[in-house]
Amino acid sequence: MDEGRPLTALVIGSSDGIGRALVRRLSTGRYRVISVSRRALEATGVEHHVLDAASEGFRDELARVLGERAVDLCVYCAGVGELFDPTDLSMDARAARVNFVGLVDAAAAVIPAMVRRNAGHFIGLSSIGDGVSPEAPAYGATKAGASAYLEGLALALRPKGVFVSNVRFGFVDTKMAKSPVKPMMISVDAAVDALERVIARRPMVLSVPKPMSWLVGVLQGLLRARLWVG
Ligand SMILES: NC(=O)c1ccc[n+]([C@@H]2O[C@H](COP(=O)([O-])OP(=O)(O)OC[C@H]3O[C@@H](n4cnc5c(N)ncnc54)[C@H](OP(=O)(O)O)[C@@H]3O)[C@@H](O)[C@H]2O)c1
Repeated sequence: MDEGRPLTALVIGSSDGIGRALVRRLSTGRYRVISVSRRALEATGVEHHVLDAASEGFRDELARVLGERAVDLCVYCAGVGELFDPTDLSMDARAARVNFVGLVDAAAAVIPAMVRRNAGHFIGLSSIGDGVSPEAPAYGATKAGASAYLEGLALALRPKGVFVSNVRFGFVDTKMAKSPVKPMMISVDAAVDALERVIARRPMVLSVPKPMSWLVGVLQGLLRARLWVG
């Protein structure tokens, strides 16, 4: 990477929550930020594009927005999550499209050019809740898919000079955190601090906070045992 030129960061899912705070943080540093979300951003001076990550043409629209520009860093923050309502599963397919298919489309739009340059960093925001979840089955399943995809990419692309990171947060204080109980919840600022560490160190996986990840790991083991017993 040429250390002298300004770096380009693409943040997807940037009109609210962690993505919005990350755009603010990155634009005050060395990055020229391209922001993408399904809603407009209030006046920020940042280049913003309104695109729906759940739409059929998302990958091509994103590629059109980028044109020939090299992306050094892409952070996929778009996500939706609803608690389970057994009388209405209509949001589940949308969760699959935003949390998983949109992530895959974003990777398809930016990673081949990173591989050609042997440089770049792709970060996806999965979740510590990336497993079996009776409270939010679609969210857990789509995040399990996201984690497996990101970690597979991380292993496949490291030899090509491209870094992929799976960031697994527990509860972060945004509109996404809908559970009635939110143990070990962190602030949006703390989440962005963690993302800055990921950008600097480029790990394949980071779970924050770690004790929450251990706790959920134990609960997943108990749920699996319950499934096997039948
Ligand atoms: N908050 C948590 O507790 C938590 C924990 C673990 C992981 N995460 C993950 O972290 C990521 C960011 O979550 P957050 O807490 O910042 O949530 P958030 O505050 O709801 O922000 C999500 C962002 O994604 C955008 N978005 C949603 N659907 C989209 C679509 N179809 N196309 C483009 N953009 C779309 C949202 O736009 P709108 O504002 O228009 O909805 C918003 O800008 C998500 O993937 C989430 O699953 C969050």
